[in-house]
Order: sequence, then structure tokens, then C-alpha cells
Amino acid sequence: MAAKKKKGSLKPRTVHDFKRVIDVGPRGIKTLRENVLIPPKYRSRLVSVLISPEAIRRRVREMAKQLYRAYRDDLYMVITLKGAFVFFSDLLREIYALGGSADFNFVSAKSYIGEVTSGHLKITLDIAADLRGRNVIIVEDIVDTGFTLIHLIHHLKKKGARSVKICSLINKPDRRRLDVQVDYLGFNIPDLFVIGYGMDFDEFGRGFPFIAVMKNID
Ligand code: IMP
Ligand code: MG
Repeated sequence: MAAKKKKGSLKPRTVHDFKRVIDVGPRGIKTLRENVLIPPKYRSRLVSVLISPEAIRRRVREMAKQLYRAYRDDLYMVITLKGAFVFFSDLLREIYALGGSADFNFVSAKSYIGEVTSGHLKITLDIAADLRGRNVIIVEDIVDTGFTLIHLIHHLKKKGARSVKICSLINKPDRRRLDVQVDYLGFNIPDLFVIGYGMDFDEFGRGFPFIAVMKNID
């Protein structure tokens, strides 16, 4: 016999939060009245939710369509770890839902910036596959100063890639120091430090299904 449910046992462990949600889509910024689930223990560390799970889903689906139209089955993606892995896994499934397919590989790299130079790129996980003649798309979580991408584009071209294009979920144009164009873009955001949907601050926030602005970042 099924155990009798205790009154109140279905109470959700997370509650609806009514913090401001801003949808920074390609058509500009608009404030939405959307509810986003934020586990209570994280709330005190967040200023606001910037992009809701639903807004991310809509945009990722549109980006998948753009990529599928442009590349069909000739997609070769290079994903930057760890930040871009959540974005990539959603993007990949949207591409397959359209009937497309993609080959992919992961890199892990960090740029070190000098005072007068654009520094260098330290690659801790590289691609063993042959890139000669391939049209490569780098999948990034966020483009900030542009240093990482400038170096990574150069690195992939040296490995023989025929072309290298950029697909990034987030772009912070106000922070740019090097000229990097984002070919496939999710959202332009102001100069804010964001976490969630793969992005972190000292590993905090990577698993959030939304993108949020963190408190006391300095
Ligand atoms: P860039 O070389 O300055 O363009 O830095 C790019 C990398 O820095 C991104 O791929 C992120 O990993 C990290 N980053 C830059 N801004 C943010 C942010 O607001 N939140 C989390 N990570 C960030
Ligand atoms: Mg990154």
C-alpha cells in the first residue's frame, strides 16, 4: 500500500524568485516579468538574473538555425573549456533537432596579458585531430577583451584550418581591447561580470540554468 503523503511534502525545495530578468536579445534590452528559480542559498550572492533559461533557450535555438543554414553537415566545432560546455551541449542538440550534425573537439586555454603586448596563450588541452582544410567554428561562452580568441584563432590556423569563425553566447563589446568579430552571437551585454550556464567565478555558478550578475566581484 502506498505510503500516505504527509501534508506539505510536495512543497518545492526551490521557490520562485521575482528578481528582475533582463532579456538582452539581438533587438536590444527589454525587461521581462519572468519567474526564475533561484535556490535560496544562492540568492544573497546574486544581484539579479540577467538572462532567464527561457530567453537562453530561444536564442540558442535561433543560433542553431543560423549555423545549420550556413554549414549543413560540414560543421566542425572547437569548444573552449570549461565555460562553453553547457552552451555547446544545448547548441549541439538543437542542431541535431534540425537534422544537422557536427564534429567537435575541446580545447582548454588561458591568455596571459602583458602591459605592452597581447601576452600569450597557455594551452592545457589541445586538439590532436587534423584540422587541415576544415572550416572551424570556435564555440565560446563569452568574449571579453578578445585576447583568448585572437591567440586561439592563430593557433587553429597554424594547425591548418581553412577558416576560423566565432560563435559566442555572450559578448561584452565595451571591454574589447583587440579587434575580434563574433560571427554568431547570442547576447550583447554591458560591462558586468556574469556567472551561470557554464560561466563561473572561482567555480561558483557554473551549473545555474540562468545567467546572473554576481555581487561583490572586486
Ligand atoms: P578574454 O580573453 O578577455 O576575451 O576573456 C575571455 C574569457 O574570460 C572567457 O572565455 C571567460 O572564460 C572569461 N570571462 C570573461 N568575462 C567573464 C565573465 O563576466 N564571467 C565569467 N567569465 C568571464
Ligand atoms: Mg571561455
